[in-house]
Amino acid sequence: MSDPIAQLQQEHRRIELVVDALQSFGIVAESGGDPRPLASFVDVLRGLVEGDHHAREEELLFSALIDDGGLSAMGGPIAVLHVEHAEARRLLRRLAELAAIPSWGREHRRVLGATARAYAALLCEHMAKEDRVVYPLAASRLSAEAAARLSRRFAAWLGRDVERRSGLDRLAAGLVSEYGTQRRLQCSCCVDMRA
Ligand SMILES: [Fe+2]
Ligand SMILES: [Fe+2]
Repeated sequence: MSDPIAQLQQEHRRIELVVDALQSFGIVAESGGDPRPLASFVDVLRGLVEGDHHAREEELLFSALIDDGGLSAMGGPIAVLHVEHAEARRLLRRLAELAAIPSWGREHRRVLGATARAYAALLCEHMAKEDRVVYPLAASRLSAEAAARLSRRFAAWLGRDVERRSGLDRLAAGLVSEYGTQRRLQCSCCVDMRA
């Protein structure tokens, strides 16, 4: 059975590539390029990030850290991560609203670029916080029994919707290939750490 934390960390590396591509796509659209691929970015971010990665963290990992690891749901790192997931949902809703507009003006393109940058900065800082602070707590706070239970729940989750996830992975790979910069995503909190 795979390690849930290793799985989440691998997903972070893939999400970084998609978010980097979103950011550079935003620059292209801002400069007059075709904005229609935004709908595909929204599908990928909704399906793989919000509906899968963030949902699995909230429903399985964070609840295990609260129920079995003694962390608070009302304050501290878990509460902060919940707030950041909510902010990511809000920015994604704004991108989805833009994806639905029939005709694009300069202001729509400006908002797209700004929202893509805000989403990228938020996700970069959020994932760095999880990688460095919260994921390590799973190893230090969960008993062997709680860790095994978490691992079984992860396996059951990942066993569902395999086809849909594969389709979204392929869509994501196409967007990364088209728009990715091949540079590692960097935000203010990790410029020094990742140099
Ligand atoms: Fe998260
Ligand atoms: Fe995460």
